[in-house]
Amino acid sequence: MANSNLAAAIHELYLVADSLSAGDDEARATVHEAIDLLDRGAERVAEIDPDTHQIVVNEWLREAILLLFRLSHITTTTAGPFEYADKLPLKTGYVGAGVRAVPGAVARWGSHIEPGVILMPSFVNIGARVGGDTMVDTWATVGSCAQVGRRVHLSGGVGIGGVLEPPNAVPVIIEDDALIGSRCMVTQGARVGEGAVLGEGTILNPSIPVIDGETGEELSRGQVPPWCVATSAMRRRELRGGEFFLPCVLVRRWLEPGERHDKARLNEVLREAGVSA
Ligand SMILES: CC(C)(COP(=O)(O)OP(=O)(O)OC[C@H]1O[C@@H](n2cnc3c(N)ncnc32)[C@H](O)[C@@H]1OP(=O)(O)O)[C@@H](O)C(=O)NCCC(=O)NCCS
Repeated sequence: MANSNLAAAIHELYLVADSLSAGDDEARATVHEAIDLLDRGAERVAEIDPDTHQIVVNEWLREAILLLFRLSHITTTTAGPFEYADKLPLKTGYVGAGVRAVPGAVARWGSHIEPGVILMPSFVNIGARVGGDTMVDTWATVGSCAQVGRRVHLSGGVGIGGVLEPPNAVPVIIEDDALIGSRCMVTQGARVGEGAVLGEGTILNPSIPVIDGETGEELSRGQVPPWCVATSAMRRRELRGGEFFLPCVLVRRWLEPGERHDKARLNEVLREAGVSA
């Protein structure tokens, strides 16, 4: 089916989702066609418009993912001594096509992983996309529909939030060349710009202010600008109940476009040697 017809068919199914069930083979075949497009990387849930730099969400593909859960039975599968019960199969056929996956790495069907990616024991959910030469380090999770660029480093334990619902919500975007420090949480449609370095333990969501440490100016909420080094910080808030310190993200310094931060360079050296940082 042409993609525009498929998009219309998916949207029609989505409108009557409540009446569908796992036994509906025709609807399931239509939905599988859409998920296969995601899996092959032929379509993506969200992308950055090259002219406006705004995020464009292809809502019909996210609808397809939601429908997939409704139209799938739970089946039991085994892998060695492990046993699972799930509605979705794992992704297949991508390892060896330039992707290195360490035991314990899990990617679900409908995610797309470009050649050159290294998956340490980690999880990549349906609808997510991981760009070439990106490192997904140990216990990092890439949530549903999150769009991770090329040459990104998601350090150990990073949580990239999944955004499947509500409709119209924007997925998390990590642009090319970003370094996300250990145990950061980037959720609910937050965005990290190209080449940005996020210090360990930073929480970024669309309510968290991003502040220029030099000027005190609030640059955005939930969006770290490109080519900067930003860390977690606290801002004082006077509330009726007293004085509190709420998290914010502080831009500590600006990088030249294309400049690699010293510590990001260190990670590249380790990666070339086949070691995770
Ligand atoms: C955030 C980071 C880029 C800062 O490095 P840097 O630019 O060399 O800066 P410095 O180490 O000189 O620290 C600058 C300031 O930021 C503070 N800072 C550093 N890391 C921080 C963090 N994670 N959260 C909050 N503040 C932090 C320092 O205390 C220092 O404060 P000061 O100016 O008041 O003295 C660096 O710590 C980093 O790369 N973090 C990610 C590392 C990572 O997770 N790697 C992968 C696995 S090892």
